[in-house]
Amino acid sequence: MRVMVIGSGGREHALAYALAKSPRVDEVLCAPGNAGTASIGQNVEVKADDHDGLMTLARERGVDLTIVGPEAPLCAGIVDRFEAEGLRVFGPTKAAARIEGDKAYAKQLMKLAHVPTAEGRVFERYDSARDYIATRDTGVVVKAAGLAAGKGVSVCEDPADGLLALERIMVDRVFGGAGDTVVVEELLKGQELSVFALVDGRTIYVLETAQDHKPIGDGDTGPNTGGMGAYSPAPIATPDVMGTVERDVLVPIVDAMRNDGAPYRGLLYVGLMLTAAGPKVLEFNCRFGDPESQPILMRLESDLFDLLESVVAGRLAEAEVRWSPRPAVCVVMASEGYPGKYQSGKVIEGLDRVAAMKDVYVFHAGTRRVENVAVTSGGRVLGVTALGEDVADAKGRAYEAVEAIHFENAYYRSDISDKAICVPR
Ligand code: AMP
Ligand code: GLY
Repeated sequence: MRVMVIGSGGREHALAYALAKSPRVDEVLCAPGNAGTASIGQNVEVKADDHDGLMTLARERGVDLTIVGPEAPLCAGIVDRFEAEGLRVFGPTKAAARIEGDKAYAKQLMKLAHVPTAEGRVFERYDSARDYIATRDTGVVVKAAGLAAGKGVSVCEDPADGLLALERIMVDRVFGGAGDTVVVEELLKGQELSVFALVDGRTIYVLETAQDHKPIGDGDTGPNTGGMGAYSPAPIATPDVMGTVERDVLVPIVDAMRNDGAPYRGLLYVGLMLTAAGPKVLEFNCRFGDPESQPILMRLESDLFDLLESVVAGRLAEAEVRWSPRPAVCVVMASEGYPGKYQSGKVIEGLDRVAAMKDVYVFHAGTRRVENVAVTSGGRVLGVTALGEDVADAKGRAYEAVEAIHFENAYYRSDISDKAICVPR
């Protein structure tokens, strides 16, 4: 079988890595991929937003299954186009991807299905949203309803800051049309948890758990990023919590989407806050999480191709999935300055040394190859991931590898997974 992975980040490298392990997969194409995916399969210079180019590629190269990594092509309807041409593709349709692409829709659906989420209201008019925030005396979260590259959410302890955030979205239009509608909701407190479920329209299979580290600095300080590291499993995801999420969130939302004529097929990512009143949904994403996919997929022992194929075929109920009991820790090495301005084009050294380390794998996120040398090309550069006998062991191995890798102005957090080590089991 020939598979194609669309995208160029750490998530896509992790997908390509797991797919390449399948005895049924002969070749992995990555479009456009990065320096890491180039060592697994073949990179093809077609970008994720070039749907025509991707379809031509799939047809000409006889691709048996295409896996779409990022949300933008999914929300723009790439799956509908592939399916209309009879090309097999993993991911939700445009209508189902709205669960991520339109936070107002997601909020409405959650209300309809009685899914626990932050109290919130949807506004299309600046004045109404402003008047609403002005009456609040506790923290608010202001969200642009559309896709804003992960930057559309402002968490404001002081409602006055919420007014400023609203002005930036609706008056200054910093996210363009993505901010035509806003969701204003209560600020929830607690630990965050990401839950990943494969859904074939009806059947739900919850993957092993992971916890992300969004803030840039140690101890969860500083601005939010796309994620500075992750570990799997997440001890806060107790059987009790997972049971509640499945019963109160996944089952009702998947049913509601099917009843709404937008059955969900693909990977459904649930971002949750574990509050004193139980788990509440912060957001849904229509794709694998990044960097969480990296430690999760490193723990997958069964065949990812079989699993994704069973989702596409609506046969998920028959799938058998095995996981390594060993935990995995992923430390993101970023370019200094990220999530703000940073420099690119720095030569990455030490990858060959790390390649020889047992149970360690370096997923590339923002890299490209220049004359056979890997150079940095993004904010998040590498996801250095290790399996261990326990979390502390996995953490030790991951950081040993991080220290063996060098590029100018590399930055990383030093406390990834400490939360898992400190939480009593
Ligand atoms: P979202 O894209 O909606 O998940 O928001 C991005 C991040 O903002 C989340 O991962 C949380 O850290 C934070 N966030 C979103 N909604 C809330 C909320 N209602 N209360 C507290 N934090 C939130
Ligand atoms: N790690 C957060 C995300 O994938 O959205």
